[in-house]
Amino acid sequence: MENTSYSSANANTQPITVRTLQKMKKAGEKFVVLTVYDASFAAILEQAGVEVLFTGDSLGMVIQGHETTVPVTMDHMVYHTSLVSRVRKQALVMSDLPFMSFSDPARALDNATRLMQEAGAHIVKLEGGGEMVQVVENLAKHGVPVCGHLGLQPQAVHKLGGYRVQGRDDDVAKEMMNDAKAMQDAGADMLLLECVPQKLAKTITESLTIPTIGIGAGRDCDAQVLVLYDLLGISHGHRPKFAKDFLRDVVNTDTDGEVSIEAAVRAYVQAVKQHQFPDDEHSFN
Ligand code: KIV
Repeated sequence: MENTSYSSANANTQPITVRTLQKMKKAGEKFVVLTVYDASFAAILEQAGVEVLFTGDSLGMVIQGHETTVPVTMDHMVYHTSLVSRVRKQALVMSDLPFMSFSDPARALDNATRLMQEAGAHIVKLEGGGEMVQVVENLAKHGVPVCGHLGLQPQAVHKLGGYRVQGRDDDVAKEMMNDAKAMQDAGADMLLLECVPQKLAKTITESLTIPTIGIGAGRDCDAQVLVLYDLLGISHGHRPKFAKDFLRDVVNTDTDGEVSIEAAVRAYVQAVKQHQFPDDEHSFN
């Protein structure tokens, strides 16, 4: 029987692919995604059992100190993703297409090519719903693995007027359901759901064959992602409800256990795998 389990710390030496993650969904096994922007942290995350090393455009906020992800450029994404992929052993490396870098199918293909050829990404992520169908189709047709991103789309923050839960209204929820299906039909390999009521995220997850990755979308998604700096309690400014400081938990745990960044990441991996994170406190209704 083919082994789909990567949770027991790197016992399996096969590289993790989108197919591995799709099999994990089928087997009901959660996988773990975490943002990372440099080589040292990437090595720690992989050692702790994170299956997907995600260089997100959140680097604009946590690394560069901007208020939004809008100023992040392709050159920034290529640079940071290459630092991560340089030390990666088995994990899948996912990289964000930043603001306006995928505004039409040809542009998206050129920029996805940069992320894969120059930076070593294995899959690209892009924000957007039904309007992105042609972009996703073109990438998929050319053999580029794609992760869609629905719900709160931070690159559209100036249009949204803030970071808010998406999909509480019936018509928006219905549109998100349709967009999720459209992304899958267009050839997306995974779908990230950000700040979505947990019931809606569950319905979307159950209706798709591709895995969903949740952030503020409840525990029923097939995988979870967090911003590394939130997990370590070192983000500045507003802390979203879904963010949990696992490092503080490890420090406060009254045992003789190891207190380290790797232990904090391992605590996150374990909590996701055991369906303990996110709990209601870190989810939306
Ligand atoms: O860029 C990012 O960090 C993201 C989050 C939703 C994880 O897209």
